[in-house]
Amino acid sequence: MGRVRMGVLGCADIAWRRMLPALAAHPAVEVVAVGSRDGAKAAAFAERFGGEPVTGYEAVLGRSDVDAVYVPLPPALNAGWTRRALEADKHVLCEKPLTGSARQASELWDLARARDRALFENYMFLCHPQHQVVDALLAAGRIGQLRSLNAEFTIPGKPSDDIRHRRDLDGGALTGVGGYPLRTALRHLGPGLGVAGAHLTSDPRTGVDTGGAALLTAPGGAVAQLGFGLEHAYRGRYELTGSRGRILVPRAYTPPADHTAVIHLEHDGSHEELLVPPHDQFRSVVTAFVEGIRSGAPSPLTGGALVEQARLAEEVRAVALRGR
Ligand SMILES: NC(=O)c1ccc[n+]([C@@H]2O[C@H](COP(=O)([O-])OP(=O)(O)OC[C@H]3O[C@@H](n4cnc5c(N)ncnc54)[C@H](OP(=O)(O)O)[C@@H]3O)[C@@H](O)[C@H]2O)c1
Repeated sequence: MGRVRMGVLGCADIAWRRMLPALAAHPAVEVVAVGSRDGAKAAAFAERFGGEPVTGYEAVLGRSDVDAVYVPLPPALNAGWTRRALEADKHVLCEKPLTGSARQASELWDLARARDRALFENYMFLCHPQHQVVDALLAAGRIGQLRSLNAEFTIPGKPSDDIRHRRDLDGGALTGVGGYPLRTALRHLGPGLGVAGAHLTSDPRTGVDTGGAALLTAPGGAVAQLGFGLEHAYRGRYELTGSRGRILVPRAYTPPADHTAVIHLEHDGSHEELLVPPHDQFRSVVTAFVEGIRSGAPSPLTGGALVEQARLAEEVRAVALRGR
C-alpha cells in the first residue's frame, strides 16, 4: 500500500515542534506540500520536513498529489479550512478544537462520512496507553463505584501576540486548553454529560477568557469538576474517585515521548504505583490517522465524540458566569 501523501495548511508552532516531526518520520506518510500565507515560512518548514513549499492553503488543496491534510490553524479557522479540505476530497487531521459549535461539528462529520474521508481532531493525549490502564483498573472494580472525576489543564502565560490572546481568532482558555479536561470527562464518564455550571474569567484588555471551571454531571450520577487556564502554573492531571479508592494520572496530557508514566492507585488503605512504558503519542496519532484512512479503523480522535466534544464546549460557554 502506498504512503499517505500529506499536505499542511499553516506553518504553526505545534506543527514545527510536534506534528511535522511525527508525520515526516512516519514510514506510512510522505509530506508532499507545506502551505503557508508566507512563502519564506513554507520554505523553512519544507527544508526541515520535506515536501514542496506552497504559498496559500487553497493551492495545497488544489494538488492532486495530496491525499490528506494536517490543519493546525487558529481555532476560528480550523472548521472552515477543514470543510474546504473535505470538499476537495482530502482526509483531514485537524488540530483541536475543530470547532466550538455542535451544529458545525455535526455538519463536518456528516460531510466526512458522505465523502468517505477520515476526519480526526488532534486530542493526541487520547492515544497514550496510560488511559487504557485506567480503564482496566475501573473495569476490575479497583476503586469501586465511580463517583467523581477531577481534571485540570493549565499552562503558563504566552507572549502578547499569541493566537490565544486573540478574540477574533477564538482564542482563550476554553478553546486553548479547556477541551482537554472536557474530553477527559467525555472519555471516562460520557456520553450524555450535562453542564451544571461554569465560570470563565475574562481579560478586559483582550476580551478572551484566561481561565475557567466547569461542573458536569453524568447520567449515572457521577460528577466532574474541571479546571483550565492560560496564565497559570503548569498542570495537566486528572483524578477519579470511587466508593473505595482513587486513581490519579499526574501527567495526563503532555507526557514526553521518553517519559515513563506513573498511575497512582489508592484503594482500601493502600497505595500502588503502576508504570506505563514511554510512548510517543504524536506518532500514535499519525498511525491512527493512517489506519483511519486505509481501513476506517475506529479511533478516539474521530466519530461521534467530535460532536459531543463541541456540544460540551458550546454549553460551557453558554452557561458560564463571567468574571474579571
Ligand atoms: N494538539 C496539541 O498538542 C496542540 C498544541 C498546541 C496547539 N494546538 C492547536 O494547534 C493550532 C495552532 O496552534 P499554535 O500554538 O501552533 O499556533 P500558531 O503557531 O500561531 O500557528 C497558527 C498558524 O495558523 C496560520 N494562520 C492563518 N491565519 C492566521 C491568522 N489570522 N493569525 C495567525 N495565524 C494564522 C499561521 O500559519 P502561516 O502563517 O504559515 O499561514 C500560523 O502559523 C490551534 O488550533 C491550537 O489550539 C494543538
